[in-house]
Amino acid sequence: MVSRVIPVDPFDLVIFGGTGDLARRKILPGLFRRFCAGQMEDNSRIIGAARSEHETAEFRQMVADAIAEFDPKSGTKDQLAAFLERLEYVQVDALGSDGWQELAALMDEKRVRAFYFSVAPSLFGALAERLHSYGIADSETRIVVEKPFGKDLASAQALNASLAEHFDESQIYRIDHYLGKETVQNLMAVRFGNMLFEPLWNSQYIDHIQITVAETVGVDGRGEYYDRSGAMRDMVQNHLMQLLCLTAMEPPAKFDPDAVRDEKLKVIRALNPVPLEDVVRGQYLGDGDKPGYLENAGDPDSKTESFIALRVEVSNWRWAATPFYLRTGKRLRARSSEIAVVFKETPHSIFGEEAGRHRNVLTIRLQPNEGMDLFVTIKEPGPGGMRLVDVPLDMTFAEALGPEAEEVPDAYERLIMDVIRGNQTLFMRGDEVEAAWAWADPLIASWENRGDKPVPYDTGSTGPEEALALMHREGRRWREIRA
Ligand code: BG6
Repeated sequence: MVSRVIPVDPFDLVIFGGTGDLARRKILPGLFRRFCAGQMEDNSRIIGAARSEHETAEFRQMVADAIAEFDPKSGTKDQLAAFLERLEYVQVDALGSDGWQELAALMDEKRVRAFYFSVAPSLFGALAERLHSYGIADSETRIVVEKPFGKDLASAQALNASLAEHFDESQIYRIDHYLGKETVQNLMAVRFGNMLFEPLWNSQYIDHIQITVAETVGVDGRGEYYDRSGAMRDMVQNHLMQLLCLTAMEPPAKFDPDAVRDEKLKVIRALNPVPLEDVVRGQYLGDGDKPGYLENAGDPDSKTESFIALRVEVSNWRWAATPFYLRTGKRLRARSSEIAVVFKETPHSIFGEEAGRHRNVLTIRLQPNEGMDLFVTIKEPGPGGMRLVDVPLDMTFAEALGPEAEEVPDAYERLIMDVIRGNQTLFMRGDEVEAAWAWADPLIASWENRGDKPVPYDTGSTGPEEALALMHREGRRWREIRA
């Protein structure tokens, strides 16, 4: 298979927060990989902008160090040197006037202009206003904003309003990096590119759907931020919600930004309010020298959850009576994220009771080992009568597609290239984000009002026992969490 790298138009990408953690870990190493892949024209530039004082040479060295630390295998020395030549640095005060004239002077008329707001959301409005008042932004300019996009509906509405004062919705790219993951897009390809699945994709044939995003990391080092957020705000309102939308949405008429986002929005608006008995929240315990959540959070009375499992209903014709079970947590047994579509049993077994109960399951693995499995029921080989067994038709992308599949861009690289191309399909629209908060807010308020404390769970486990009961009580069970 030959990979097709299509270069994007020349661009100036300004990264506000260009010396910050996300820029160093993800954005700049990602841009370097796209540069090595030949996707950036030679005259494209990346401009780091931040409050601290640096010479461009220092910024280049910082980027070289970040690449050495976070992506040491990519590129050659010559490629790195050529990439660093593309970098500039400007000291800019987001809340004042310093640096804005210099930034304006650096901009080139003839290129795509994009501004990545890799800063606290409280600065979004000020940056948008200055880009406008210093004449740096025009109607073609794109701005990229990171999560968290608000902490509730009111704050998300305020952010949207402050951006809308200076930018049209078609210029705003709200990142949810889960949408940039290869398998997430494959979910759409599988659903809408094959005849096989779509006719069965409804509550007549599907018993339930499980969406799991399990992590082994704790919140070490970011406990203070995380404690104001929790798994519901940090993961469910955005990442798991996007996975749910892509799994549940109706086929859009075409693969274009508004057609796809309209369908996702309809799913969010069809979600039923979740009663508290359908929610389990947990906090991890310490293990040896690994601190527990309460120590990480720095508050022994914290009521913030590092794990959440919930049963969600999409109240429409397609999904009435097919629950979606979502769970995500830190310090679990393995890093493993997947969507599992569990089909119903056959209406009648011709093989009798002893053949057991069997179900087809389609799993879409986001990480690790991106790929899909379709479990089908077959006869167990050998003598001894008709015994049935479920076996996976495994499609690990790296095996099926060869080495090219291992070179797919990571989520950030792909999304930044989409910004330059002007393709918003994999970005969240303002109304989508607001609808997701409108669904999440009452649920968060209901446990806060009751003063509920999350239940403890062991580091390295699959979460609290109560989460298992959430499914057991309906005769279902979670799939194993394994790497
Ligand atoms: C981020 C969350 O958005 O996603 C983190 O803030 C989480 O808490 C991370 O660890 C998970 O991303 P990934 O790509 O590693 O699954």
